Amino acid sequence: GKVAVLMGGTSAEREISLLSGTGVLAALKSQGFDAHAFDPAERPLDDLKREGFARCFIALHGRLGEDGCVQGALELMGIPYTGPGPMACAIAMDKVMTKRVWRAEVLPTPRGRVLSREEQVDKYISKVPDELGLPLIVKPPHEGSSVGVTKVRSWSQMQEAVDLAAGYDVDVLCEEFIDGDEVTVAVVGEGWDTMALPVVRIVAPEGKYDLQNKYFTDVVKYHCPSGLPEAEEKAVQRLAVAAYRALGCRSWSRADLIIRGHDRKPFLIEMNTSPGMTSHSLVPMAARAVGLSYEALCAHLIATAAL
Ligand code: DAL
Ligand code: MG
Repeated sequence: GKVAVLMGGTSAEREISLLSGTGVLAALKSQGFDAHAFDPAERPLDDLKREGFARCFIALHGRLGEDGCVQGALELMGIPYTGPGPMACAIAMDKVMTKRVWRAEVLPTPRGRVLSREEQVDKYISKVPDELGLPLIVKPPHEGSSVGVTKVRSWSQMQEAVDLAAGYDVDVLCEEFIDGDEVTVAVVGEGWDTMALPVVRIVAPEGKYDLQNKYFTDVVKYHCPSGLPEAEEKAVQRLAVAAYRALGCRSWSRADLIIRGHDRKPFLIEMNTSPGMTSHSLVPMAARAVGLSYEALCAHLIATAAL
């Protein structure tokens, strides 16, 4: 039947989503799928039902696309879709809630401090570096692709970083900075059939793996195979699978982690329930390392779309 590739949307990651969706659409079409682009920013989601779409590939990133809202609507319409269900998406889109779930499962994640709207004033902000040390990371809890994120190196940068993040969210998350290797792990499947793909290690100039460097330059180096010792690679994969299960994910997601330099302890940063599928994206890279092409990955995900 007809397949809709949901792309675009209204979030701050709209442009990235259009890159992901365009890639997925071409991959599905090239394999004979009757696939069509569908942008929820341009038309009501109900049109999916009216136009007889049988399945959806969700290539939306960020709010109202990756956060369980679209997933919930598709549940109501009875249209199977790729990626995790509403609950896992909603939790994963909220970095504060995600930490709570992982903490409850004793999965390692950096220490954090949430500043509510009322606390985003000097009196509270100035205490955070004492609690978390410097440098520290300030981010909006509900964004992706490093939107609104600052690495704060001195006290004087705090207010500006908090204000930037507050432009995207009500609350602001301050996080302990973990100095080490940035890695990402794609996890696919469901229940006992859940497995991790090979680890991708990310090396950005001066550790700047930001929005610009992620998508619009070629200065970031990606290593897959990761070059990590085998035991370390396995430990990171096990942690990613545990993190996926803890959030109730299915279908696919991508866990971002940092392996701390001095003791090689891995920390969970976040889970992406609608991972990027751009030409710079990391799940396609990991899939390729196990002989799964971009096209085959898209076909597999759409074939296992579920409610
Ligand atoms: N949020 C971007 C799309 C990613 O995680 O790949
Ligand atoms: Mg993300």
